[in-house]
Amino acid sequence: SSTGRGEKERTLGIIKPDGLSGNYTNRIKQVILESGFEISKEIVIQLDEQDAANFYAEHSSKIFFTDLIRYMTSGPVLVMILEKEDGVAHWRNLIGPTDAGKAKITHPHSIRAMCGIDLEKNCIHGSDSHQSAEREIAFFFKEAPLDEAVRKHDEL
Ligand code: PPS
Repeated sequence: SSTGRGEKERTLGIIKPDGLSGNYTNRIKQVILESGFEISKEIVIQLDEQDAANFYAEHSSKIFFTDLIRYMTSGPVLVMILEKEDGVAHWRNLIGPTDAGKAKITHPHSIRAMCGIDLEKNCIHGSDSHQSAEREIAFFFKEAPLDEAVRKHDEL
């Protein structure tokens, strides 16, 4: 485990716009809780293009970047801090492969198989490492974007 000694490890989950608008939130949360995670914080926010571009900065040179930003700003998202021993790896396993279309065949019990459609509309995000998780948690819950996020949340 990446934290060792039975400590909980935090990771970030995001229910993407189609997951939220498709009313998958309760089913996703049920899977999360049944899988032994604690949801320690959550917020619903509408990302603007700048927020999404900052969050996905590492992918800015990818051909799918514009599509990804358009998708992630197409409606509100639900951002959660999830905690469990070895949480990052367990959460990545639970959400399944990036391509939700393939996940339906290869990982039928994964969250992406349940609520995703394809490589773009895969309904959920999970941090890919302990370092990413801490950076992403800070992005939404600690640093400057927090105030902005709360303001947007209040406006929804
Ligand atoms: S990579 O290139 O391996 O680093 O990319 P990957 O980890 O598979 O995906 C990174 C995030 O980009 C999203 N993605 C896409 N969006 C739209 N269109 C296409 N073709 C596409 N391919 C990948 C993918 O869902 C990942 O988002 P997150 O939120 O991190 O899951």
